[in-house]
Amino acid sequence: MDSAAFLLLAFVNAVTLLQVWGTDNVTALYGEVIVIPCNGGAPAPADLMFVKWKYEKDDGTRGDLLIKQVSSVQATVQATDQYAQRVSIDANFSLLISQATLKDQKTFTCMVVSGSNLIEYPVSVLVYKIPSSVQIMDKSKVLQKDKPTMVGTCVAANANPATTFTWKKNGKPLLADGKAVVISSSIKLDPATGLSTTSSTLQYAASKEDFAAVFVCVSTHKLTNQEEELGPFPIYYPSEKVSLEIMSKGPIVEGDNVTLKCHADGNPPPSSFFFHIKGQKMPVVNSDNYTLTNISREAGGEYKCSLADNEKMEASQSIAVSYLDLSLTSSGKVVKALGDTFHVTIEKNASGDPEVSWTKNGKAMEGVKKLQFSKLTYADAGVYVCEVSMTSLTRRQSFELVVEGKPMITSLTKDRADDADSKVLTCEAEGVPEPNFQWSVNSTGVKSSHTNSKVTHKITVTPSVNLTVTCRVSNKLGEDTMTINVSSVFKEKTDKRDSQEDSEDQAKLIVGVVVGLLVAAAIVGLIYWLYMKNSRQGSWKTGEKELGTSEESTKLEDNNHAV
Ligand SMILES: *[C@@H]1O[C@H](CO)[C@@H](O)[C@H](O)[C@H]1NC(C)=O
Ligand SMILES: *[C@@H]1O[C@H](CO)[C@@H](O)[C@H](O)[C@H]1NC(C)=O
Ligand SMILES: *[C@@H]1O[C@H](CO)[C@@H](O)[C@H](O)[C@H]1NC(C)=O
Ligand SMILES: *[C@@H]1O[C@H](CO)[C@@H](O)[C@H](O)[C@H]1NC(C)=O
Ligand SMILES: *[C@@H]1O[C@H](CO)[C@@H](O)[C@H](O)[C@H]1NC(C)=O
Ligand SMILES: *[C@@H]1O[C@H](CO)[C@@H](O)[C@H](O)[C@H]1NC(C)=O
Ligand SMILES: *[C@@H]1O[C@H](CO)[C@@H](O)[C@H](O)[C@H]1NC(C)=O
Ligand SMILES: *[C@@H]1O[C@H](CO)[C@@H](O)[C@H](O)[C@H]1NC(C)=O
Ligand SMILES: *[C@@H]1O[C@H](CO)[C@@H](O)[C@H](O)[C@H]1NC(C)=O
Repeated sequence: MDSAAFLLLAFVNAVTLLQVWGTDNVTALYGEVIVIPCNGGAPAPADLMFVKWKYEKDDGTRGDLLIKQVSSVQATVQATDQYAQRVSIDANFSLLISQATLKDQKTFTCMVVSGSNLIEYPVSVLVYKIPSSVQIMDKSKVLQKDKPTMVGTCVAANANPATTFTWKKNGKPLLADGKAVVISSSIKLDPATGLSTTSSTLQYAASKEDFAAVFVCVSTHKLTNQEEELGPFPIYYPSEKVSLEIMSKGPIVEGDNVTLKCHADGNPPPSSFFFHIKGQKMPVVNSDNYTLTNISREAGGEYKCSLADNEKMEASQSIAVSYLDLSLTSSGKVVKALGDTFHVTIEKNASGDPEVSWTKNGKAMEGVKKLQFSKLTYADAGVYVCEVSMTSLTRRQSFELVVEGKPMITSLTKDRADDADSKVLTCEAEGVPEPNFQWSVNSTGVKSSHTNSKVTHKITVTPSVNLTVTCRVSNKLGEDTMTINVSSVFKEKTDKRDSQEDSEDQAKLIVGVVVGLLVAAAIVGLIYWLYMKNSRQGSWKTGEKELGTSEESTKLEDNNHAV
């Protein structure tokens, strides 16, 4: 049967005209069935005898694949090479090749033999394969400013034809300029399959503004396009400016803890610094600050900080330390004698010009800058506080001034007591320390508190006889005494130190004189009455009344004494 066909073919070739059509193209997918239509799938001529498929080998020789006769149901496979198992033909005379590989990219020819014609339809086969994957490899973690840094590599594996790559930044194409943008691509061919693996690496010199930039690699292939995203990346750049901060809320005062903080504008921020403290270089690791504890007045001056990895990058600041020392020539308890002179001198050392103010017993002494007394009085005693202040600094010193003096009795008085039976004697004295009281009579006394160097002592006496009472005051510096006459006759008069007379006795004398005069007047009146015998005067009554009153009081007092 086959040999008959060949004979027939040989015959046809001999008698008919051979026609060859222009080459058609067919694209197939890798691994799938290649369908190669004969004559573009056009119906076969009516007097068709058979269709034969053949191909051109790499060496240019002819390879027979199969032959299909109109008269037979089955096609005859003529191929003896790898196509023997892979070729078949369908009802439309299309050649089917299973499991397409790149080696199938050749020209296959369909030969249509009819009673009148022999026409060849060559078809060129292309086998495409989409990349098995598009991936980003070697993705960078950061970008360096102004320095081409690898952003990443895009790889499209096993494709045909080879995938090509382009790069975009924020949606705009990146054009390689060999400086800021460097794109390097390579294609690797798998010798076994002939498939291409394409890779493209982007190197990019970033600017600070690129911190949010998104990079995209675009893979372009005949059958598919794909985009892979990279970024955004942190941008690293070295410090261009360093500054030193002195962390302090107000002026720095001696004894403060002062923290120095070094700032640098690089990214990532530097983590190690040198602090230059009074000529000493102090390394600080994993921190940007250094604390000076308990700063002294001598610590004022210039301080510097620099980057540990670039000491030329440095900054400096100067620190002024405020201080204020205060001492007074007097302190604690100062004891002075009444009438002494007394001066207090303020000694102060300060970084500025401080204000001085004084308070005495908690009250401001307005306008007093210097404390000096030419003659101390008891009133000068008290607690003195000197306050010296300068911006944010205040110092206080205090002392207690005690003015001592011999006691002196300022008054000794007598008064009728409430019960009218007794008399209250009041002795008032001045002196520091507090004087003791002694009386020449036995009585329980009541003492007032010792305030402003003054103190009084009261006793109650009930004299049955005329008494001379002495009040005696004393302290370690001396004593003073004063006496007072207290009569058993009920009469009150104050006895002041400045009037030496006994007023009570004087009063009694006056009463005596008046009584004498009245007696004399009575006698004169009697004589007058004896001579005149006819008239009387009202004044006599008055005189009698006054006399009577006086007598009554005297009697009253006597009665009282008797009781
Ligand atoms: C087939 O492909 C080749 C190149 O591969 C081309 O020159 C030719 O014009 C194509 N033919 C048709 C019909 O598209
Ligand atoms: C043959 O061709 C016709 C028209 O071109 C088509 O409809 C039919 O599906 C084809 N048959 C096969 C087996 O490919
Ligand atoms: C200063 O620091 C020391 C220890 O570092 C601390 O004991 C002290 O209280 C601090 N002084 C002030 C004024 O903060
Ligand atoms: C000083 O640095 C340390 C360590 O980094 C940090 O914990 C601390 O908060 C810093 N102090 C200041 C005042 O910034
Ligand atoms: C601070 O320093 C002074 C001397 O400069 C010292 O007398 C004082 O005790 C120190 N204070 C502290 C809290 O260390
Ligand atoms: C002030 O400073 C001087 C010298 O430093 C010193 O001799 C003096 O004692 C200081 N005075 C006070 C009150 O600290
Ligand atoms: C005072 O009273 C005491 C006893 O209470 C007595 O011993 C003393 O002699 C009395 N002194 C005078 C002066 O009366
Ligand atoms: C007390 O003195 C007054 C005069 O000062 C005198 O009259 C009186 O008799 C005296 N009394 C006694 C009890 O001595
Ligand atoms: C008190 O009376 C006496 C005589 O009784 C007299 O000598 C004396 O001067 C009087 N004293 C005073 C302070 O009056």
